[in-house]
Amino acid sequence: MSAYNQLLTRLVAAPHTWLITGVAGFIGSNLLETLLKLNQRVVGLDSFATGHQRNLDEVQTLVTPAQWANFNFIPGDIRELADCQKACQGVDYVLHQAALGSVPRSLEDPITTNGTNITGFLNMLVAARDARVKSFTYAASSSTYGDHPGLPKVEDVIGQPLSPYAVTKYVNELYANVFACCYGFNTIGLRYFNIFGRRQDPNGAYAAVIPKWTAALLAGGKVYINGDGETSRDFCFIANAVQANLLAATVEPVIASEARQFMNPALNQVYNVAMGDRTTLNELFALLRVNLAANGVSADTQPVYRDFRAGDVRHSQADIGKAQRLLSYAPSHRLAAGIAQTMPWYVS
Ligand SMILES: NC(=O)c1ccc[n+]([C@@H]2O[C@H](COP(=O)([O-])OP(=O)(O)OC[C@H]3O[C@@H](n4cnc5c(N)ncnc54)[C@H](O)[C@@H]3O)[C@@H](O)[C@H]2O)c1
Repeated sequence: MSAYNQLLTRLVAAPHTWLITGVAGFIGSNLLETLLKLNQRVVGLDSFATGHQRNLDEVQTLVTPAQWANFNFIPGDIRELADCQKACQGVDYVLHQAALGSVPRSLEDPITTNGTNITGFLNMLVAARDARVKSFTYAASSSTYGDHPGLPKVEDVIGQPLSPYAVTKYVNELYANVFACCYGFNTIGLRYFNIFGRRQDPNGAYAAVIPKWTAALLAGGKVYINGDGETSRDFCFIANAVQANLLAATVEPVIASEARQFMNPALNQVYNVAMGDRTTLNELFALLRVNLAANGVSADTQPVYRDFRAGDVRHSQADIGKAQRLLSYAPSHRLAAGIAQTMPWYVS
């Protein structure tokens, strides 16, 4: 049995209390669905800045009434320390997902992104430290690699940030390190690489590429490709990101050998959470069209190419060896399998 499957068995046998910030968002609501299905107790915090009540409503339809009763939603804003303190009470594991995503949003309004992603992050660290939670796992970002050209991306080799958003996600890592050094408060950061799946928002100017293109193709609208389409990304299905979160949150803080005890080296680290593959935007576009056709939707549209977008990196591909070694991360879905699972949801 894989380490992840063993963990799932252990969690069902001995449920814990989890806090998910950003629970009404894409990744947060998928974490919620998985944890409730494992009969865990979940506290959720969200301000609905970019998340939706409909995501929570959908999760409710996917779990039993008894599992749903294990969910306690707290409407609140991570920029308010009191909201973070309230949410952290009695919690074992924190999965901190709340943030304002999107590079273009941060270019247009760096102050609001900074408030949520840095002040909000610091509030959560302080609240979780003071509540003496067992672990603190947070959403970091592949944007931290910035302008470093090296491929695949290895955790300890980063470049200069290319956007305010990237700065905020890097500052999260710096604060996390400082909290380990100064307060002995241990964390794990997960540098997500283009996560996709059900409940990822297809609407708005800041939508991610897979939901945005899928929605455009479904509506018979235009699909715009920024640049020549040879820009590449390491797309990662949501099930892999959920797995990484659960493995990270439950890392044993102390390892005992025959002679001594020592801190688990898996703690106070950042990890790439990705598939380890590289797919160009042109290849992605073709894959989406094939999957729409498989779901009875014909999409003959050709993409419209336009200028490269400011702040975007040209290529991105992760080395996932560190997460494999230290967290026993073993991604279960490659891009094609993830798109095949996701497409019926968008079509319906
Ligand atoms: N989706 C990706 O590919 C990706 C890649 C890298 C990093 N991330 C990070 O993962 C996390 C989750 O991203 P997502 O894709 O689910 O985005 P999302 O926008 O769907 O979810 C973010 C959630 O946080 C909530 N939120 C925002 N500001 C808040 C505030 N001030 N107080 C309380 N709640 C607030 C939103 O309402 C939303 O529900 C974010 O930290 C994001 O930066 C995501």
